[in-house]
Amino acid sequence: MSVFSHLAVAPGDYDERIRQLIPLYDELIPEVARALAQAARPVRDIIDLGVGTGALAQACLRVVPAARIWGIDADAAMMRVARRQLGRRVARVRLVEGSFLDVPLPACDAIVASYALHHILTLRQKQAFYRRCHAALRPGGVLINGDCAPASTPQGFARDLDVWFAHLAQTFGGRAGARRVYDAWADADVYVPMATELKLLHRAGFDTDVPWRKSPFAVIVGITRSRA
Ligand SMILES: C[S@@+](CC[C@H](N)C(=O)[O-])C[C@H]1O[C@@H](n2cnc3c(N)ncnc32)[C@H](O)[C@@H]1O
Repeated sequence: MSVFSHLAVAPGDYDERIRQLIPLYDELIPEVARALAQAARPVRDIIDLGVGTGALAQACLRVVPAARIWGIDADAAMMRVARRQLGRRVARVRLVEGSFLDVPLPACDAIVASYALHHILTLRQKQAFYRRCHAALRPGGVLINGDCAPASTPQGFARDLDVWFAHLAQTFGGRAGARRVYDAWADADVYVPMATELKLLHRAGFDTDVPWRKSPFAVIVGITRSRA
């Protein structure tokens, strides 16, 4: 599915529109990059899952300028924007078209993602995917996911999502408009509660940390234990 068909945003307009769609976008991305410091090994090879227009890849290169990044995305048009916006840093980034669920993941020191892993539709798929990530990471490597990670209880889940609706309401004509925008994503977005995310990561062989959280978003770090 293309970003245009899912978000009704042309890739060239994505960077402007995404801030209307997602609160805290500019805060979360540098926090994902900052969490690279949790790797218990030098970070040279990074995979960026759902690289999009390259905002996270750029943030990672600000933290680790000598890193090489593998940016994977299913939407070639998004990566064309990334290529343009990366400027001279494009030399450090290899852009790979395909689903991160299928593309073989190369051996690496860190795997990062911002606002992308909610596109994994079932817990079973996500569990299998986290195991593949663990297998690709060198010992001491980290998986860092910045995404919506609401509370598990129905009340907590609703409270967390309400923060998002309040943000959408500013642009899309109040709460009713916000709800319409959010509901339009329902067939392709699955927001897994934080507690479940942590469980999936543990089962895949990771220790976990949550270095940043502002409802409903969080940065969740999986730190490799020995092979699961
Ligand atoms: C909301 S955008 C986030 C892009 C970027 N990470 C950011 O923070 O701006 C989600 C991106 O994930 C990509 N994507 C979704 N599912 C994917 C999949 N299974 N494999 C590869 N890319 C995927 C989309 O094409 C899109 O570019």
